[in-house]
Amino acid sequence: MIKRVGVIGAGAMGTGIAHIMAQCGYDVVLNDIDNIYLDKAIKSINTVLDKKIAKGTFTEENKDELIGKIETSTNLNDLKDVDLIVEAIIENIDVKHALFAQLEEICKPETIFASNTSTMSITKLASATKRPEKMAGMHFFNPAPVMKLVEIIRGFYTSDNTVTILKEVVRSLGKDSIEVKKDSPGFVVNRLMLTQFREAFLVLEEGIASIEDIDKAMTLGLNHPMGPFTLMDFTGNDIAYDTLMYMYTEMAMPNWAPPAALKRVVNAGRLGNKIGKGWYDYEKGDKRK
Ligand code: NAI
Repeated sequence: MIKRVGVIGAGAMGTGIAHIMAQCGYDVVLNDIDNIYLDKAIKSINTVLDKKIAKGTFTEENKDELIGKIETSTNLNDLKDVDLIVEAIIENIDVKHALFAQLEEICKPETIFASNTSTMSITKLASATKRPEKMAGMHFFNPAPVMKLVEIIRGFYTSDNTVTILKEVVRSLGKDSIEVKKDSPGFVVNRLMLTQFREAFLVLEEGIASIEDIDKAMTLGLNHPMGPFTLMDFTGNDIAYDTLMYMYTEMAMPNWAPPAALKRVVNAGRLGNKIGKGWYDYEKGDKRK
């Protein structure tokens, strides 16, 4: 039923989603506001595939076939006949809402709309459309071609049929899904992750252990691949701050308030791996804990 997929936003997530969709046989239209982002996305997919070819796990022919399945576009009208939209643009509710209102006018009535938002309300995004029953969250994790889980999130009006179709798409990508039955800020994975962040700040502020030892506690004691401070650096301290602020605002619960220590590192511009410094100083040779 789903053959042609529109992926909107060619950043870290959109690139990975377009890659795995094309790899699993879907025709993809990858959209962004500027060709610069689209060229970067195709280059990055080529780099990933070249590494696989060098390892002998992929062939040049497979690569040509995969890249040939991704059409790039800066014009939303090119999405008019897709069967599924996966929106992966910046995490801003007003910009996403405006985009879905435009898509409502462009796409055929049967098209299913999905958002890759990390925390935001699917019900609110669906209110921009006349098809809230055909809209759901489809939350991939980074890097999308590798990570096995996709959260399928029900908005207030999402139909059972929409959830069934999206679960089937996830299965066809060789991934597994969980169903988030209620549209709640942070859904499941990010809510659990942010809880770990909050508690890590309390342990730090109470002087119970250092940043390094809190990370070590999670990696060596609980077998997590990264401790909370390393994970914040990896995904971006600004993102951690904005996400906590969104939870705090949406849930109106004081215990979600972003900790002052997090605000201080963000104000200091120590955003994490993307700039070489965060809780750790990677430029000075700190290693991931
Ligand atoms: P990013 O900043 O790397 O990429 C966003 C892309 O969207 C940019 O290329 C930008 O030019 C494009 N864009 C912005 N407005 C647009 C518009 N109106 N139309 C078309 N393209 C537009 O962001 P990233 O990290 O890929 O995140 C995208 C979404 O995925 C966000 O909602 C984020 O919360 C979510 N997400 C991010 C994860 C991560 O680890 N980075 C993990 C899971 C979800």
